[in-house]
Amino acid sequence: MTKAIFVTGASSGIGYALATDLASKGHRVYATVRTPEDEMRLDQTENIYPLMLDVRDRAQIEESRRIIVGERMGLYGIVNNAGVGPIGPLHTFTDKEMLDLFETNVFGPFRMTNAFLDLLLESKGRIVNIGSQGGSVSMAYYGPYTMTKHALEAYSVALGAELQPYGVFVSIVQPGGIISEIGAKMALGNLTRFRRASPPFEEAAKQVIAALEMPTSFDVSKPESATNRNPSSPDIVIEAVTHALFSEHPKPRYLVGTRWEGNRVINMLLERLADVNQCKTLQYSRDELVDWLDKKLSECSD
Ligand SMILES: NC(=O)c1ccc[n+]([C@@H]2O[C@H](COP(=O)([O-])OP(=O)(O)OC[C@H]3O[C@@H](n4cnc5c(N)ncnc54)[C@H](OP(=O)(O)O)[C@@H]3O)[C@@H](O)[C@H]2O)c1
Repeated sequence: MTKAIFVTGASSGIGYALATDLASKGHRVYATVRTPEDEMRLDQTENIYPLMLDVRDRAQIEESRRIIVGERMGLYGIVNNAGVGPIGPLHTFTDKEMLDLFETNVFGPFRMTNAFLDLLLESKGRIVNIGSQGGSVSMAYYGPYTMTKHALEAYSVALGAELQPYGVFVSIVQPGGIISEIGAKMALGNLTRFRRASPPFEEAAKQVIAALEMPTSFDVSKPESATNRNPSSPDIVIEAVTHALFSEHPKPRYLVGTRWEGNRVINMLLERLADVNQCKTLQYSRDELVDWLDKKLSECSD
């Protein structure tokens, strides 16, 4: 059965690939864009209904709601995909840059979901948030972006717990590096921030600037590493979102990416577990932890 599904941030990258894939399967896709050019381009595709919407703009969200309610087709799913990924040393981010980032990556999904909640409750539908592996790991220069994706993790967990009793399932997809426009769109702002670095951080920043100015490509003769990343196709995100939207048993969380990226996430989660287990007054034995893990793994495979 074809469904009405809302995808934010559909002008490029993951959102565009997802919107066109869903539309090709006959679903009615409300796809958000921010320029008349993108609106015209997406309008050419059968089953895609482009909507001008910036997730920071309450009036545009209300207008989209008005349009969708007017169509009387209901709404089965919402994919909160729109996002930005600026990088830079934490001290170089202005308040405005931080606020803008949180407005898009965190308050965007929050506002969109609230605006369409009644329709999703009515359809017993699905909400899929596009998080990131940066919702589990963090590292130098990715602080602000990973702060937003960590926030989105907490949001998805709480939202899922509140909505599941009413038949609405919430999932979060955590991609690693995916081929998209995000790097190109952020490039100028990223360089500007690294150039703002103040003492004693300028030397390290200069090295990053040199790396950012070099064209990057994956060297297949060398293993994947932090400096030799192998971005994946958006197809792996589409596969996870499709499962989250249509499976009878959607998962709360989908980790997608390369093996190297997966190792990094698991390693970080285990490091956190080991860290919290260092408290002498609340420490668990190795056997207790392994039993716990075995139990969780068998619950998840059910
Ligand atoms: N690519 C990766 O490696 C990767 C990894 C993990 C997670 N993600 C997540 O995947 C999602 C999609 O990113 P992408 O990689 O596909 O990047 P992308 O090609 O840059 O696409 C981002 C989309 O979001 C839209 N957007 C940005 N700010 C918006 C706002 N305030 N309101 C409405 N739309 C807005 C963009 O519209 P405009 O064209 O108008 O700017 C574009 O359509 C993001 O949430 C990102 O954090 C990406």
